[in-house]
Amino acid sequence: MITSTELETKGNLFPGQIKEFRFEGNSVTFTTENNVLLKIDVLRDSILRFRYGTDGIFENDFSYAIDKETIHGFNKFEIQENPSFITILTSKVKCRISTRDLKVAIYDLQNKLILEDEAGFHWQENFEYGGNYVKMSKTSMDGENFFGLGDKPTSFNLKGKKLSLWNTDQFAYSKDVDELYKAVPFYIGLHSNTSYGIFFDNSFRSHFDFCHEKRNAVRFWAEGGEMDYYFIYGPQMADVVSSYTHLTGTPDMPPMWALGFHQSKWSYFPEERLSELADNFRKLKFPCDAVYLDIDYMDGFRCFTWNREHFPNPKQMVEKLEEKGFKTVAIVDPGIRIDSNYDVYREGLEKDYFCKRADGPYMRGKVWPGECYFPDYTNPAVREWWADLFKELVGEIGIKGVWNDMNEPAVMEVPGKTFPLDVRHDYDDNACSHRKAHNIYGMQMARATYEGVKKYAFPKRPFNMTRANFAGGQRFTSTWTGDNVATWEHLWLANTQVQRLCISGMSFTGSDIGGFAEQPSGELFTRWIQLGIFHPFCRVHSSGDHGNQEPWSFGEEVLNITREFVNLRYQLLPYLYTAFYQYVEEGIPILKPLVYFDQEDAHTYYRSDEFIFGNQILACPIQDINSLGRRVYFPKGRWYNFWNDEQIVGGKEIWVDAPLEKSPIFVKEGAIIPKFPVQQYVDEIVLKELYLDIYYKNGNETSVLYEDAHDGYDYKKGRYSLKTFKFRGRASEVFIQQHKDGKYLTPYEHLQVRFHGLPFKIGKAFIDTEEVSLVQLEYDPEYSTLKIPKKFELLHLVREKT
Ligand code: GLC
Repeated sequence: MITSTELETKGNLFPGQIKEFRFEGNSVTFTTENNVLLKIDVLRDSILRFRYGTDGIFENDFSYAIDKETIHGFNKFEIQENPSFITILTSKVKCRISTRDLKVAIYDLQNKLILEDEAGFHWQENFEYGGNYVKMSKTSMDGENFFGLGDKPTSFNLKGKKLSLWNTDQFAYSKDVDELYKAVPFYIGLHSNTSYGIFFDNSFRSHFDFCHEKRNAVRFWAEGGEMDYYFIYGPQMADVVSSYTHLTGTPDMPPMWALGFHQSKWSYFPEERLSELADNFRKLKFPCDAVYLDIDYMDGFRCFTWNREHFPNPKQMVEKLEEKGFKTVAIVDPGIRIDSNYDVYREGLEKDYFCKRADGPYMRGKVWPGECYFPDYTNPAVREWWADLFKELVGEIGIKGVWNDMNEPAVMEVPGKTFPLDVRHDYDDNACSHRKAHNIYGMQMARATYEGVKKYAFPKRPFNMTRANFAGGQRFTSTWTGDNVATWEHLWLANTQVQRLCISGMSFTGSDIGGFAEQPSGELFTRWIQLGIFHPFCRVHSSGDHGNQEPWSFGEEVLNITREFVNLRYQLLPYLYTAFYQYVEEGIPILKPLVYFDQEDAHTYYRSDEFIFGNQILACPIQDINSLGRRVYFPKGRWYNFWNDEQIVGGKEIWVDAPLEKSPIFVKEGAIIPKFPVQQYVDEIVLKELYLDIYYKNGNETSVLYEDAHDGYDYKKGRYSLKTFKFRGRASEVFIQQHKDGKYLTPYEHLQVRFHGLPFKIGKAFIDTEEVSLVQLEYDPEYSTLKIPKKFELLHLVREKT
């Protein structure tokens, strides 16, 4: 690995003057005196792609990250020319390229400078491997802050950090460790209330320096490939994140059970233990939707086999669990044991599907099963073969979800803990070494698994999870933050990492609740559940080396408190499902860090404890031992305390009490929060009514509710229901307008409405302008509750005359 200082000093080459340029379609290509090509594509008015080639050529244009289905289009594309600059104009930005040195500066339409090259593009030849170290250096603006970059276990704001991306298995990682499981070369810059994003589409080991070595420069470089990056204009961070997420793609809707509570351990076996586990959840009335099989379900850790001693009849076991309302999720690893009696190994060998070293021998390495060979998932034929291996596991045995692990790829007992760099890969017919394929190996494994689970789970939706991933991998899989530790620091890390992943396009994420390594105290476990119920993926997992980590392992008090919070998760499922839908459709992250919520408020730049769950719930987990409360920063707006309806005006920090049985949760005024009754698992009951918690506001607020069949693909044929509620509150009346899209018919007929903070008793009610008696609506003035038919366009409630 080379440092940026070394890069500076070791013979950098620069493009020189522009000799000529030509434009074609949506792009302009410049050629310089030193034979550098720069191609700028206008993809949208707010998205420009910059590609630099040396020696006057480009590589084959291929990317695993970009979603080919993303639709582009722009309103304006104009070029202006003068002797010093060539300017590209779109309806959102002006991009000025200097004819003297190819340096780029991007402005908004008010001529505010957004981003400008410092040294700009430069490179250094790599004699050993061929190709170049490709480098970019930008000027950092006054007071600029930086966010993004995937799963980095460090402070949320990246200013002053230097980080690199090289997927690495880091058991029990510590705070500030650099290379972790995922590589997401995307960051957001924010200065003078303007956000922009940079997505560096390069899978080689890449490096990012946010004013670490040079106070006023942001630099990113990679150890091979092309300088190929996308500039994404905001000006709001929300626009940047959605555009980036669209560019790299979003997943389909998950089955709703995947958003329930999941229980895992390394490992639950034999079968009786799993069945006891399941029974205990039901007996203790602790909701749970999925139980996990870690590597010990296999025969000698061979993927797609079963240990028949512990699991004599897997199909029957899975069915029995299903009858109790549990889905079974099973792990797979990429290491295929070298064993000529093992059909997966034999097939892989026969078909020539395993990775090989540069001179021909197989890539051989030790993982859980012992010595292994590894499928080359960058080969489409291998992905197809791998997908078909799920026929039995998913199609016949009935496993409902698959968990891809050790796919950085992890290799034990070797320097670097992964493949040597000379290993060869197909890279979808762009043959290359592991230097280029390393960071996308895990993503391609997860993609192959996804295709298999999707095929064999049909007509149900697949559930897939991975530890390693690359930008764009969110199209195929959910993810978790890997082998964390049962410490308070790791609780803080989980909070930061999941928020960071959410703004890096990967919303379907969670941590091993309670910590993977070591054992949490009951207090830490409780606080972690209080955070975990707000994470899109909510699973307890532990190594099991230090004791049990089921919710009842810490005594009655912890069981009772954590049950209340998991109940709340189940009540909020329609709200979370709606946020998931907005992520799928609009690229909106499910968790919103405060800086995303209000980038104008400088207090948010260094705060990452608090976050917005969905659109309207503010959560702030307790992250310290023995805390009976904490100071919480409230962003703009007015907020209701979820526990007692007390109202707080935002823009300040205040102390909030939070004894162990409470955690600070607030709801935005005007919000309409949809809720289910508590169920022990998704679809345990057919809904008779839906609850709507309405938080009164003297003003307007819009809320959304997405519903469908919770599984299957009918929603793609229009069988969904998307409702928009427009709340309008006055001192003595309230209006709620409802608009519905989609053909899905919800099973319930009534809405059970509960007002919070309604400043009056209701005297009259009108549905679609017709007066309806309050008795008919079962109005209870004491609790401010009403039962209303689900079909209405306008609900109008008027204060009782005194
Ligand atoms: C890895 C995974 C962990 C799993 C273990 C055994 O450490 O990160 O979640 O339990 O392998 O499969």
